[in-house]
Amino acid sequence: MKLVFLTGAGMSAESGISTFRDSNGLWEQYPVEAVASIEGYYRDPALVIKFYNERRRQLPTVQPCEGHKLVASLEDKYEVTVVTQNVDNLHERAGSKNIIHLHGELMKATSTINPNDPNCIITLPEDDMDIEIGDKAKDGSQLRPFIVWFGESVPMIEPAIKKVNEADVLVVIGTSLNVYPAAGLLSYTNSHCKIFLIDPKDVKYDASLGVTHIKKGASEGMKELIEKYL
Ligand code: APR
Repeated sequence: MKLVFLTGAGMSAESGISTFRDSNGLWEQYPVEAVASIEGYYRDPALVIKFYNERRRQLPTVQPCEGHKLVASLEDKYEVTVVTQNVDNLHERAGSKNIIHLHGELMKATSTINPNDPNCIITLPEDDMDIEIGDKAKDGSQLRPFIVWFGESVPMIEPAIKKVNEADVLVVIGTSLNVYPAAGLLSYTNSHCKIFLIDPKDVKYDASLGVTHIKKGASEGMKELIEKYL
């Protein structure tokens, strides 16, 4: 059986990482256009680089939650793919092996001119993880965070669509489904795919898809999914 998880910020909320759109979420504290758009980066690269340095420094201080661990544990029994909008590394640290990062990865950096050139993408060392103005990518341009910002293409959406289309079960966890193309992935499920949503709040989705909503947080919701439905 093929399982696909589509995860968002709520997946990491119990690990202590803020979501974006809940009250007190990151986009209430920082103007999203300034720190998470390609225009914002060109306007003030130092501000954007600093914002992501701060996000990155948080990673060693947090741990995968029970929900991340339960997602990873299912690999023993099923063919599991995690499609995540999260830029943290908590799915990998919990043990998940097949992860598609739709919106990039905090621990990676890349070229300003060719952000998707594989030759320019590097993993930042844990003991020197800040990007500084003046740090250069392999092509000589300013090194920037390997993050997909608003206004940029999402190259990993194609492999994600393929996985979702092949899935027998799709489990959506902790995303408000506000941001496309990720939110559109639900519509690529095939007719026999069972769709579950784990989120303590109501989320807007196409009702014709026949979604089972487990109205709980990621960890409790994963327990219920495994006990009742898998
Ligand atoms: N368990 C599960 N879900 C939770 C939990 C929890 N403990 N706490 C909150 N949530 C849910 C919220 O109810 C909400 O539906 O997580 C969702 C978080 O939604 P957003 O903050 O909008 O985050 P997300 O959907 O991941 O955002 C998508 O937007 O800003 C961009 O690139 C950024 O990847 C991000 C994208």
